Amino acid sequence: MWRYRELIPVDTRYVVSLGEGGTPLYRAEKLARWVGVKRLYLKFEGANPTGSFKDRGVCVGIAKALECGARVVACASTGNTAASVAAYSARAGVKCVLFLPEGKVAPGKLFQALLHGATVIELNCNFDEALRLVLKLCGRGCMYLLNSVNPWRLEGQKSIAYEIADVIGVPDYVVVPVGNGGNISAIWKGFRELHDLGLVGELPRMIAAQATGAAPIVKAFRAGKVTVDPVNEPETIATAIRIGNPVNAPKALKALYESRGLAEAVSDYEILEAQVAIARYEGIGVEPASATSVAVLRKLVHEGVLEPDATYVCVLTGHALKDPSVVDYLSKWVERYRCGVGDIHYILETVLRK
Ligand code: F0G
Repeated sequence: MWRYRELIPVDTRYVVSLGEGGTPLYRAEKLARWVGVKRLYLKFEGANPTGSFKDRGVCVGIAKALECGARVVACASTGNTAASVAAYSARAGVKCVLFLPEGKVAPGKLFQALLHGATVIELNCNFDEALRLVLKLCGRGCMYLLNSVNPWRLEGQKSIAYEIADVIGVPDYVVVPVGNGGNISAIWKGFRELHDLGLVGELPRMIAAQATGAAPIVKAFRAGKVTVDPVNEPETIATAIRIGNPVNAPKALKALYESRGLAEAVSDYEILEAQVAIARYEGIGVEPASATSVAVLRKLVHEGVLEPDATYVCVLTGHALKDPSVVDYLSKWVERYRCGVGDIHYILETVLRK
């Protein structure tokens, strides 16, 4: 992403890089047929150093922390920000304190945080309450906050737009999984900047994808509001976006209104179905939250809201290995046998006859 350093307002002497950004943009022909569109591209953010798009923003955020002399960084997280902040702060040599909702973070992400030596504080509350707490604590000045309310985070994440435009130009639509709303607003900012600089002639329409159990931004968008009514007990298998009171909702809604975009929610079943389809048709493994973008696109095309003959980019925000625990919910789709060595011929016969 540092190809675009002139557009990222940070003193590059402070940048501690792990090789963030520059992720693949795949043309997905088989998945496009399943979704019901002609041209579909997948921006695979799972290819970032810690397996999610967070690395783009955290890299810039850590540089700012170093620039202002911070010795301790902190964030509340549903998991991916925590994993990213843990890795980058290790490389930068700053202390890292993570506030996580206990029992609600996918195992791969928790492992990354612990592996990189972060101080992990598991709280008996949900993400929204953990964030409120860390905002208050960081407000006292003892720790540098790296949640996406920190605007420098978004300055890094907007590079997703630059990379898409560099490869295929400006697509008609960009579909983004939304939790706190930071990433969709960052991507929109990236496209707008390219447009303002005269580097591109069009702008895409932004589509926010959420899970039905945690969809405050979809509800606000439908009501034409600029702020959200919080969802008190957000629930979805897509733990990364299990967020009821998104801090960046005003920015996300602004991106939707300005781009004449859309917002839609899908069920956990539709999310898992899309996760499996992405993996089976294209060989790309993503975590459930990432699959919401593809699930929402398919839903809107099937309902006739979106036209098949347009160019779509779905942002796939995180890697499949982040959350192997979902295998317990995939029994409908997986083929798995347990047998004694003596039964192998019988099993093989059954398998090969299928
Ligand atoms: N997809 C994944 C895989 C995420 O981890 C997140 C956010 C999002 C989408 C939504 O991005 O919040 O900018 O709208 N994860 C945060 C975290 C909340 O703590 O890792 P957003």
